[in-house]
Parts: sequence; structure tokens; C-alpha cells
Amino acid sequence: MQLKGKTALVTGASSGIGAEFCKALIEKECRVYGIARRTERLEKLRSQLGDLFIPVTLDVNDHSAMERWINETFHGDNGNQGGQAESSYSGPSTGPDILINNAGLGMFGAVDELPPEHWDTMMQTNLTSVFRLTRLIVPMMKASDSTNHIVNISSVAGLLGNPNISGYNATKFGLRGFSEALMKELRNFRIKVTCIYPGSIATGFFDEHGGTHPNMMQGSDVANMVIQLLETPDNFLIDEITMRPLIPKPPQK
Ligand SMILES: NC(=O)c1ccc[n+]([C@@H]2O[C@H](COP(=O)([O-])OP(=O)(O)OC[C@H]3O[C@@H](n4cnc5c(N)ncnc54)[C@H](OP(=O)(O)O)[C@@H]3O)[C@@H](O)[C@H]2O)c1
Repeated sequence: MQLKGKTALVTGASSGIGAEFCKALIEKECRVYGIARRTERLEKLRSQLGDLFIPVTLDVNDHSAMERWINETFHGDNGNQGGQAESSYSGPSTGPDILINNAGLGMFGAVDELPPEHWDTMMQTNLTSVFRLTRLIVPMMKASDSTNHIVNISSVAGLLGNPNISGYNATKFGLRGFSEALMKELRNFRIKVTCIYPGSIATGFFDEHGGTHPNMMQGSDVANMVIQLLETPDNFLIDEITMRPLIPKPPQK
């Protein structure tokens, strides 16, 4: 895909790799809608990135607010706000060419100690919200004349189970299955679907999990890789990418 002039929608844009995706896309002259809850962080990003970055304060778990925003932004608010946006859409695509489902969080703990609310929050944010947003964007992509791309951010935790992260594992494994099915379902509509499985990246994700260290991957490197992915020729699909730090252990003091 030639990125200049394209429109992207990135969830989890206020920090970490989501903010890096926005920066990298804007360097390629895309228009980027960045979704997250923390308005002040989004506004700071806009002051750095300029008017091609459009901050959107939304909780991905607030499905009616998300649907309202999509109707207003991409459908000129046709009054359809009741869960049927995809079935009512029949006009030419004015929707995003790129959707990066990135918003997510990890809450860790032994299975008998993990509060059910933490399980629910992860399931809703990391998995259900991806389905709920994707189903609203896909009709516009299907109607588009050009190739579109959905990128889902899973994790190596979507490939390998490990002690004390069972809930996070379940969400990221779930995203893997959703992505593979979607890839097969949407390829004939010229919609690419890629699922990405990163190892540790130095972001705010680790604020409550022991902090970052210099041997973790850098968000900007992950974002540059996603740009390469998006720029592949139209009839060339990379459906999965795993990436890890070469030397994952913290440097010895
Ligand atoms: N860091 C890693 O090592 C690593 C490895 C593999 C995969 N991942 C995945 O990468 C993705 C991004 O994480 P990150 O490492 O960049 O961590 P991060 O800096 O904590 O970023 C998480 C982003 O998700 C957003 N978010 C969380 N809940 C949200 C909600 N309900 N509604 C809207 N936005 C929400 C946050 O924004 P607000 O708080 O402003 O809403 C924030 O922008 C996650 O899916 C994570 O599972 C991370």
C-alpha cells in the first residue's frame, strides 16, 4: 500500500507502541485518528505531530460511544446509532484504509488470586472491543476500491502460555484465532489481516509489572516494522509476525 494520503485508525494511541504507530504513519503523510481515554496525552501528541493527527477520546469498551463516533466521522452521522451501522452502509468508502487494533492491558496473577473483574477487563479490552470495532469498520473496507489492512496487536503471550498470566494469555490467544479467521474471511475483499506477536517492548505496559529495562525492544522499531508491513505490494499478504528482543534479559549491572 502506498501510505501517503491514506487514513488510519489506531486504538491505544495515547502511549507506548500506539503513539509510535501514529508518529510513523504521519511521517508517511497518513491522516491518523488516534483513540484512547487519556485526552491530555492525545492532545500532547497532536501538538507534536500536527493536524494530520486527530485525537479521539474514547473508551474502546464504550461500544455505543464508539459506534456514534464512527457514524459521525465516517458516515456523516446518518442517524443510525443503534448497533446496525454495518448493515445500513451502502455508499462509497470514506472510512479508514488501515485499522490498528492495539489498545490493551495485562493484569497478572495466579489463577486462584486473579480477581474476576481483572479477567473481564482484559477480555473486554483486548478481545471483545477488537470484534466490536472491527465489525463497524469492515463494511467500509469491503466497499472500498483499494486494498485495506487490519493489524491486530497480540503478543508472544498469544502463542505461549505461562504461569501467572493465564487471563492475558487467554485474550491474546483469542485474538490470534479471531485474526486467522478474519484473514481467511476478508482476503477476497482485498482486506489484509495481520496478527502481530511481540515480545517485551519498553512501554508503560510494564509500569505495574516491574518496569522496563534497556534490552527490551523499542516501540519505534516495532512501528517501523509495521510500516514495512503496510507498504507491501497489494497482492502480498504477511498474516503473522513474531518479534523478540535478541537478548531479552536485563543487562547485568
Ligand atoms: N509492551 C509489551 O511488551 C507488549 C508486548 C506484546 C504486546 N503488547 C500489546 O501492545 C499493545 C499496546 O501496549 P503498550 O505496550 O504500548 O502499553 P501502554 O503504553 O500501556 O499502551 C496501552 C494503550 O492502550 C490504551 N487503552 C487501554 N485500555 C483502553 C480502553 N479501555 N480504551 C481505549 N484505550 C485503551 C491506553 O490508553 P488510555 O489509557 O489513554 O486509554 C494506551 O494508549 C497492548 O495490546 C499490549 O497487550 C505489548
